[in-house]
Amino acid sequence: MKKTNSHIISFVLDEEVISIDFSGEQALSPTTTVLNYLRSLPNHKGCKEGCAEGDCGACTVVLAKEESKKMRYWAVDACLLFLPMLHGKQLITVENLGSSTNLHPVQKAMVEKDGSQCGYCTPGFVMAMFDLYKNYSIPTNEQIDDALTGNLCRCTGYRSIVDAAQSAGAKKARDQFSEQAEVKKMLAGIHANNKKLSNGIQVYHKPSRKQSALQLIQKYPKATIVAGATDVALRVTKNHEVIPEIIDIGDIDELKAISANKNHYIIGAGASLESIKAFSKEKLPSLYKMLAVFGSKQIRQLATLGGNLGSASPIGDTTPVLIALKAIIVIGGKKGARKVPMHEFILGYRKSQCKAGELITEIHIPKSSGGAQIRSYKISKRKDLDIATVSGGFRLSLDKSNMPVELMLVYGGMAEVTKRAKKTEAFLLGKVWSRKTIEQAANLIAADFKPISDARSSARGREVMAKNLLLKFWTETNN
Ligand SMILES: Cc1cc2nc3c(=O)[nH]c(=O)nc-3n(C[C@H](O)[C@H](O)[C@H](O)COP(=O)(O)OP(=O)(O)OC[C@H]3O[C@@H](n4cnc5c(N)ncnc54)[C@H](O)[C@@H]3O)c2cc1C
Ligand code: FES
Ligand code: FES
Repeated sequence: MKKTNSHIISFVLDEEVISIDFSGEQALSPTTTVLNYLRSLPNHKGCKEGCAEGDCGACTVVLAKEESKKMRYWAVDACLLFLPMLHGKQLITVENLGSSTNLHPVQKAMVEKDGSQCGYCTPGFVMAMFDLYKNYSIPTNEQIDDALTGNLCRCTGYRSIVDAAQSAGAKKARDQFSEQAEVKKMLAGIHANNKKLSNGIQVYHKPSRKQSALQLIQKYPKATIVAGATDVALRVTKNHEVIPEIIDIGDIDELKAISANKNHYIIGAGASLESIKAFSKEKLPSLYKMLAVFGSKQIRQLATLGGNLGSASPIGDTTPVLIALKAIIVIGGKKGARKVPMHEFILGYRKSQCKAGELITEIHIPKSSGGAQIRSYKISKRKDLDIATVSGGFRLSLDKSNMPVELMLVYGGMAEVTKRAKKTEAFLLGKVWSRKTIEQAANLIAADFKPISDARSSARGREVMAKNLLLKFWTETNN
């Protein structure tokens, strides 16, 4: 296996190994996005910039890597990818799929089904459809909708685009990516060693092992940790921030593992939300339900659970449900690993128990709820690819007399931190779980929270939503 230099990144594009040495580059920095890089090349202008914040999908590209002897393909937003995140992967753009005289089946389907008008969004849709093409033998309508959620089209209308995705899926044939022997060989030659990339202004560390990451984080406690970069990249693309020191944990396999011991599911902090979504479908349905409306597939294929918790956002989607599930957060640092119960993890607005010099490494979720019913809810202006206005993670155990013996009503979006409705809970404990008591309890929501008014909702609107979520929870648990 060829050993690459630790200050150089290498990836495959156009069936060639491309290496970038940031120290010798004027135009590129370690936080140059893949979108800006591709647009600087003469032959990859199909990667379009719409929003530069992960919302429109115009910049969708597909990454590929050999895993368990098979190539895995996943669509991502190039505007959220820093160049070093390409190391050891194949980058596939719309230009690699086909030409006007030799179209790929997904491109052919777009032509046949009139899936394009002005064409600005089309390369992004084609790449999202290519992910679908490579990952499902015949995709269901649900899988098609999910794969296209991250792409916006202003003029064609979605019916013909969905028709194209269905048509390409139904006529599945081999394509030029079915055999990638040469590319596999090239990728195998790129070594996954620790990287220290610098252009003299920024330093970008890319450790390949958990232990190296922990050492680096202790050595450089002020460095910004990056996992999927779906939050951090916006500091660069929107605020034009030059982040001086970064530690990128996004390619550490040990942090991506999902496993189980006797009592807990163990989710690596670096596991992508898409892989957690697939894992949780049967095992943790309340978590699955939240992940099904989290961002888009392009976002979930980059974003991690550690990143969602690390941002400690009051509207982070996973916080309420993880509190209701009684998850435990494992934090690694100088003194080894410590375990923090999820309900104690958030300390304030964007402040958590994970301090400078520490790293969230795992999330442990009890396998059994001990008979408790757990639900998650997200209210947003639109179902997909939107930030929660109000969210909830609720847990209930009833005794034989139909009275709650355990109750957790955790709300996001109602305060500057994700918070339990303690007064409402106290009122309901030991009372019959009936519509009448729920309606009485709902009046206490106003005593638990003083929400703000903003572009998403008025304070009054948020209060009504929180009350209605309680009523919905009662409806779903009133057997
Ligand atoms: C278009 C779009 C849609 C989105 N939709 C949603 C949504 O529906 N719901 C939602 O909740 N969020 C959403 N987000 C926000 C974001 O995607 C999530 O918060 C995501 O989980 C962040 O994960 P990441 O790995 O990309 O984090 P990064 O951007 O890499 O990091 C986020 C923060 O966490 C820290 N961090 C990362 N990993 C660790 C770790 N292991 N230990 C300690 N700190 C760490 C970083 O230093 C940083 O401060 C969206 C973002 C975009 C751009
Ligand atoms: S440019 Fe809109 S998602 Fe990247
Ligand atoms: S074809 Fe014009 S934006 Fe989609």
